[in-house]
Amino acid sequence: MGKTVLVTGGAGYIGSHTVLELVKAGFKAVVVDNLDNSSEVAVKRAAELAGDSGKNIDFHKIDLRDKEALDKLFASTAIEAVIHFAGLKAVGESVKKPLLYYDNNIIGTVNLLDVMRAHGCKKLVFSSSATVYGWPKEVPCTEESPLFAMNPYGRTKLFIEEICRDLCLSDPEWSIILLRYFNPVGAHPSGLIGEDPRGIPNNLMPFLQQVAVERMPALTVFGTDYSTKDGTGIRDYIHVVDLSVGHISALQKLLDGSELGCEVYNLGTGKGTSVLEMVAAFEKASGKKIHLVLAGRRPGDAETVYASIAKAEKELNWRAQFGIEEMCRDSWNWACKNPWGYESPDQS
Ligand code: NAD
Ligand code: UFG
Repeated sequence: MGKTVLVTGGAGYIGSHTVLELVKAGFKAVVVDNLDNSSEVAVKRAAELAGDSGKNIDFHKIDLRDKEALDKLFASTAIEAVIHFAGLKAVGESVKKPLLYYDNNIIGTVNLLDVMRAHGCKKLVFSSSATVYGWPKEVPCTEESPLFAMNPYGRTKLFIEEICRDLCLSDPEWSIILLRYFNPVGAHPSGLIGEDPRGIPNNLMPFLQQVAVERMPALTVFGTDYSTKDGTGIRDYIHVVDLSVGHISALQKLLDGSELGCEVYNLGTGKGTSVLEMVAAFEKASGKKIHLVLAGRRPGDAETVYASIAKAEKELNWRAQFGIEEMCRDSWNWACKNPWGYESPDQS
């Protein structure tokens, strides 16, 4: 039996794809999620996709702020390492409800780290974000670029990064990898698991999907006057399957045995794509016309953000395989098969 890895937030978008890659790679995945922004169906479908290895996925509905429940789980299971996705991620909501974000993301993480410490489990991969680069003065963003948070959500990522650094400084037995994701999009090529945000989507790709399946009438393009090739914002979109595989590479490095301390890696493709380029790629993949409403800039949005990927390539031996064509193809496949996400009527 392979090593057991705890995946917090494993019912979520990136978590469910990573749980699948984990068991495919021979690990046992213990999933903890409070299902606040997800469905247990995602975990069941990941298990289905894993075939025989699906039996190595175990789900527990636990909130990270429930320290007693976490403690019981660690007492009953030998956990080798943790991949920590659980957190709230809506930028606008974090501005309106900062205490909720500090409580959920920071207190939840501190609880997790404390329970890990108490049980001698000191290897962690944490979901950080390119949001910590704020509005970068220079692109590509390298891991050494200046850090700046533009909102409470971003501050939770920055604070948690600092907490992890302090922890590693205090005790060399800790090994922590902070992964700064750029813009995760796409879905598993099967169309069985994908992104299913609650309410009106904040992000470009889920919004595009909902326009294409006619849940939304049009996409609002936020800003057409940026100093970019077509005036719209530029981001580094990365296929969620590539991102998930990046977690397995990070985990392998943690489990290598060498004392690592706290290391940080960007996970992106290194390529910038504009909003209009993404719309065109999605129209091509779906065969649907996306109606656009051109609007002003969204407050807090950066102009151009993309990653330097040299460090992850060199030290994690990982590189994204998919381009925006595959990202749009797989997003569309997921959206057609599940127009109402995991709540869609069964089409099989
Ligand atoms: P998601 O909302 O689909 O997944 C997060 C999961 O965590 C959800 O299933 C939610 O129910 C769970 N959760 C939240 N608070 C919890 C708590 N207190 N206890 C237990 N479970 C809890 O989001 P995602 O897109 O899969 O993102 C995963 C992680 O990656 C998050 O930390 C997010 O901030 C980070 N991230 C995401 C993006 C992105 O664009 N999707 C970009 C950069 C970083
Ligand atoms: N956009 C639109 N219309 C929309 C949604 C987005 O034009 O309806 C534009 C944005 O203005 C931006 C681009 O599409 O230029 C991408 O926007 P997203 O909201 O999809 O992604 P962001 O780069 O703004 O932010 C996301 C997450 C952050 C995270 C960041 C990097 O929301 O939390 O990716 O990982 F930090």
